Amino acid sequence: MRNTPLPFAAPMVGQEEIDGVVACLRSGWLTTGLKVKEFEGAFAEYVGARHALAVNSCTAALHLALEAHGIGPGDEVITTPMTFTATAAVIEHLGARPVFVDCDPVTLNLDPSAIPERITRRTRAILPVHFAGQSCDLDAIRALAAAHGLAVVEDAAHAIPTRYQGRMIGSHGNASCFSFYATKNLTTGEGGMVVTDDDALAARMRLMHLHGMSRDAWKRYMQNGAWSYEILAPGFKYNMTDIAAAIGLGQLKACDAFHLRRLEIARRYDAAFAEIDGIVSPKVADPFGHAWHLYVIQVDEARFGIGRDEFIEQMVQRRIGISVHFIPLHIQPYYRDRYGFAPSDYPNALAAYQRIVSLPIYARMTDADIDDVIEAVLEVAGVHQR
Ligand SMILES: Cc1ncc(COP(=O)(O)O)c(C=O)c1O
Repeated sequence: MRNTPLPFAAPMVGQEEIDGVVACLRSGWLTTGLKVKEFEGAFAEYVGARHALAVNSCTAALHLALEAHGIGPGDEVITTPMTFTATAAVIEHLGARPVFVDCDPVTLNLDPSAIPERITRRTRAILPVHFAGQSCDLDAIRALAAAHGLAVVEDAAHAIPTRYQGRMIGSHGNASCFSFYATKNLTTGEGGMVVTDDDALAARMRLMHLHGMSRDAWKRYMQNGAWSYEILAPGFKYNMTDIAAAIGLGQLKACDAFHLRRLEIARRYDAAFAEIDGIVSPKVADPFGHAWHLYVIQVDEARFGIGRDEFIEQMVQRRIGISVHFIPLHIQPYYRDRYGFAPSDYPNALAAYQRIVSLPIYARMTDADIDDVIEAVLEVAGVHQR
């Protein structure tokens, strides 16, 4: 048993990030400026996108992307209930309606075959989530979108670096929205990035991310910069600070190494749990293409001997941090009451929810931490297996 609790997630911050932040603090420029520009350029290059816009959250990125596609009152956006509230909340913010489509029971990603029956004349976009860091079936989603004239906005909060058919998420021509929240694969504390290849979409998002102003603060206050600006729209306050971008630049350099470490942890879990009856490890066609933001097992009560809730209890007793991703949105009071959902309306999301547990997986974990997680799972299995 561990002496100290193992956190469910913890950031890995190196000297580069610390030096970057100190330099930024000393520079006299704290908010959006050259560091943000540099981070945007480096990120666009890393994922292979034409444009990257740094913002202060993935939620902001999603909101901007939908707004730039002209989504508004009366519109419908197809998405998954197996996600964080932000994915659907931004649709609500625009006065539009999230239309849930059930997830695939194995990958927990939006099931493209279930999309057509939910398309109406009000549908304007599809918002898939790359659950846990495993890519959705983008070809199928894009084909449906093209056939029905719909936009695709990807919730790529978990998907850095995720590859679909060998190419990075962010390089497939849609608006893709990444999260740099403290627990994410690449963190800036709080932050996000939206990338796209579409010039007009990028221009609209850039305008709206900072008050709808025609010139940003850096340009206005630079020496010889003009003091004048125009308000072209009632925009949002979604810009990233240079302090955050300095962290992001260091994190981006380490991103591939972080990924390899998470991949290694996933492989160790896969091997260790393969023999445990009733612990179902993630099924992944392309392990390298998976960002491994989350390692989500399913506890099959009939075979394992105890259910998910009891399993969590036992892991917590062994001082292992765990989490559940996600409580499906259709059973959350707001969405349930507003749209009159029954839990059984999305049977795959509901069934998965009753079985899922996310185990710790992050670059900062030591070999001993990984051993502790495995040992705890084996112990719980040993006590309860029939
Ligand atoms: C699937 C998904 N989408 C969006 C978000 C929102 O990200 P942020 O906290 O950067 O706004 C999260 C955050 O956890 C998430 O898991």
